[in-house]
Amino acid sequence: MRQAIVLGVLACLSLLSYVNAEDPYVYLNWVVEYGEISPLNVNQRGILINGQFPGPTVNVITNDNVIVNVENKLDEPLLITWNGIKQRKTSWQDGVLGTNCPIPPNTNWTYRMQMKDQIGTFTYFPSTLMHRAAGGFGGFNILARSVIPVPYPKPYEEFTVLVSDWWKKDHKELQQILDSGNPFPLPDGILINGKPSSTSFDVVPGQTYLFRVSNVGMTTSINFRIQGHNLQLVECEGSHTMQEEYESLDIHVGQSSSFLVTMHGPGTNDYYIVASTRFTKPILTSTAILHYQGSRNPASGPLPIAPTYHIQWSMKQARTIRWNLTANAARPNPQGSFHYGTIPVVRTIVLENSASQINGKQRYAVNKISYINPETPLKLADYFNIPGVFTLNSIQDNPPSGPTGLGTSVLGTTLHDFVEIIFQNSESTIQSWHLDGYDFWTVGFGSGQWNTTLRRRFYNFNDAPTRYTVQVYPYSWSAILVSLDNKGMWNLRSAIWPRRYLGQELYVRVWNDEQSLFTEYDIPDNALLCGRARR
Ligand SMILES: *[C@@H]1O[C@H](CO)[C@@H](O)[C@H](O)[C@H]1NC(C)=O
Ligand SMILES: *[C@@H]1O[C@H](CO)[C@@H](O)[C@H](O)[C@H]1NC(C)=O
Ligand SMILES: *[C@@H]1O[C@H](CO)[C@@H](O)[C@H](O)[C@H]1NC(C)=O
Repeated sequence: MRQAIVLGVLACLSLLSYVNAEDPYVYLNWVVEYGEISPLNVNQRGILINGQFPGPTVNVITNDNVIVNVENKLDEPLLITWNGIKQRKTSWQDGVLGTNCPIPPNTNWTYRMQMKDQIGTFTYFPSTLMHRAAGGFGGFNILARSVIPVPYPKPYEEFTVLVSDWWKKDHKELQQILDSGNPFPLPDGILINGKPSSTSFDVVPGQTYLFRVSNVGMTTSINFRIQGHNLQLVECEGSHTMQEEYESLDIHVGQSSSFLVTMHGPGTNDYYIVASTRFTKPILTSTAILHYQGSRNPASGPLPIAPTYHIQWSMKQARTIRWNLTANAARPNPQGSFHYGTIPVVRTIVLENSASQINGKQRYAVNKISYINPETPLKLADYFNIPGVFTLNSIQDNPPSGPTGLGTSVLGTTLHDFVEIIFQNSESTIQSWHLDGYDFWTVGFGSGQWNTTLRRRFYNFNDAPTRYTVQVYPYSWSAILVSLDNKGMWNLRSAIWPRRYLGQELYVRVWNDEQSLFTEYDIPDNALLCGRARR
């Protein structure tokens, strides 16, 4: 209580540049510490937030100011990133090593964020080292303000469902495997809300529920389904979708989708909720229980089947996810009032992932550069004009030929540019790409090598959904359009965690030379300084 008051006073005293004083405040105090967990019946060291694994679900409302005091009780520096939270005008709060100095052990740092004009299903997780292999992740839901109608009836109740691949090995052991250049092991299991089976969702017959499902895993796409029930997709990552019914849906690493599920009439049975891996051998499966009130029979019978490898099936399904053009976004205007398909593209950037050995060790790269984090966060180097930390456009707009090298890739872009990015995947494994600070239109998925003539054949210029994470199928490409309207230094990364840890990421600097609080907030007064920015 006392701490909430102190924080409140501090927030009022500081220049209210990061947060809007007129909107409500939500204060969270998170103690991040190790604790024993045994999700796969093996005791292991987990990362708990306020004693919980997975971490607490955040439920806030559009435009809320969310103040999170993170106490790092781990033995290593820590940052938490907010997957899909746009951090408008303030990449200072993003929680990745390119923008923030990590929070040293046994200290606190307070994030001050505003949920400006956002609505939907998001997540958070530790972005440092391999911490997320031990937990520290959770659901982050932004609900609509009461004056903004959502395009579906109010559900009886909402469930936050976190699906993750899981390893019995300690996170430091997994990190050691990567540091020593060895291949990352396959997961040992799949968890639904921290358990491989028996998580129970209690429902009332005849009622309709909203399931907010996120893939918070590190490597594996999953297929989600519920025995005997259809999933009506209503939202993916902040976009209200056409409400198609699915028997099952693929959710790739870092992605979120929400479904309405209507319970049967009298309901005398329980049913299985199933999450199974995609594009893996063997397939790992995890179940939870849909428990009907008054049911006398436990869930039984064969699990509903799902596609196994079937890349084309998944690509076709991805194309069926469409924006509801007449639905509201977080503002009271239809989503389709922004005709993205008619905006001229000023720049096309083709980013190709690759795997190679550098100095005898496995690395991953984007356009032949395998990213390494400098000691000084890029954003601080930019702000304090510290030379030699990074060079703008140190990564090319197209995949070059030649060998792969280590580097600190920063794409220089201009504020308000409308840009097309192609993710070209010439490898045999599925990729998942995430851009901080933005959502983008996922306009096209195709097989083989991308070229400009494919735009006309394969792009959805009308009602593609906006998301913040896009999958790229094996030997395929995915195309996105993004309006670069959020000034800052933004992380563009592989959501596949071992790849990101070993260099498959870069930063996009969105810039104009006009210094103005209308386009970017000032450095927060509590900003940690490290590397060459330490004074
Ligand atoms: C961190 O925050 C807690 C709770 O507000 C406080 O008790 C503690 O003293 C803080 N520690 C540091 C190092 O600031
Ligand atoms: C789209 O949104 C509108 C407006 O909220 C709603 O009435 C309609 O049912 C939605 N259509 C579909 C197909 O989801
Ligand atoms: C573009 O790709 C398509 C599909 O792979 C191919 O059929 C076509 O010949 C390519 N066009 C050019 C100009 O390379």
